Amino acid sequence: MNADIADLPARAEQAAGGATSLDEIQRVSTDFLGKKSALAEAKKALGALDPDARRSAGQLLNEVRDRIESLLDARRHELSQTARVAQLETERLDLTEIRERTRLGHLHLVTQARDRLEDLFVGMGFTVAEGPEIEDDWHNFGALNFAVGHPARAMQDTFYVNYGEPESTLLRTHTSPVQIRVMQSQSPPIYSIMPGRVFRQDTADATHMPVFHQIEGLVVDRGITFADLAGTLEAFTSAYFGPGFTSRLRPSYFPFTEPSAEYDIRRPDGSWLELGGCGMVHPNVLLAGGIDPEEYSGFAFGFGIDRLALMRHGVDDLREMFINDVRFLRQF
Ligand code: DAH
Repeated sequence: MNADIADLPARAEQAAGGATSLDEIQRVSTDFLGKKSALAEAKKALGALDPDARRSAGQLLNEVRDRIESLLDARRHELSQTARVAQLETERLDLTEIRERTRLGHLHLVTQARDRLEDLFVGMGFTVAEGPEIEDDWHNFGALNFAVGHPARAMQDTFYVNYGEPESTLLRTHTSPVQIRVMQSQSPPIYSIMPGRVFRQDTADATHMPVFHQIEGLVVDRGITFADLAGTLEAFTSAYFGPGFTSRLRPSYFPFTEPSAEYDIRRPDGSWLELGGCGMVHPNVLLAGGIDPEEYSGFAFGFGIDRLALMRHGVDDLREMFINDVRFLRQF
């Protein structure tokens, strides 16, 4: 009997090695340690032995049971590890695959330019204001000192909206009417920029679109002079374009400023580019905004945002920016 019993651990080990699940291990455990196992039978037989033989046989049985228990435990542990790895593998979620499938977009070129302009001017102490795209004739023209029938109105090919009196309601032709709204809604000091969408009856070509974007600037405070305007635009020029760029102001005409100027930048290669208009706010415009021109003075400017974006990225056709071909847009 002793030889058979001493053999049990090796046989149990072999059976356990063949078991491939925790259930099978349980069966092996019953076979070798259960009530009907050879070990249990041997234990029952102990009673028939004399005391010395019983002690040594009992010791052997205990050792054998301990060894079988510990090897079954080891195999159980091994199998549960394997089961866990297999489960993790089936539940695996590869997040990098998802990211590859959905290509993320980004802000449009013009939005990027607008954000950057806002950041720069906010950094210089300006606040950002907005006004409506559908305007009345007074805000778009009258308050800005365009006389009725003045030829300057014809400079801006207006889209009129079929609402109210004929030609009383329109799609704003520039962001300048927002100057009036800002002056009407707050008192000086005013340091504001007003970005937005504007509309003109233009046929789309490389440099024109019927819908485009401008950014307006307005400063109204005590003692503001033309030197403040020139200094502000010069600071803006090198901040936006880089240290190699400078600016100049050329005499011009706008009904809402006096004197008026065109704002040009000088590129590092020495060439000049016209970017917008500017000037000292006309006293009639301050009055229309409810501000006393005897007490306050101010300057204003207006640039085309699309043109700035075009310039910065070396795009040579404005239309490219609005066709919305992702192969073009993705580049920026
Ligand atoms: N509103 C003008 C335009 O669209 C641009 C402009 C010129 C704005 C001079 C200004 C300014 O504020 O002072 O052509």
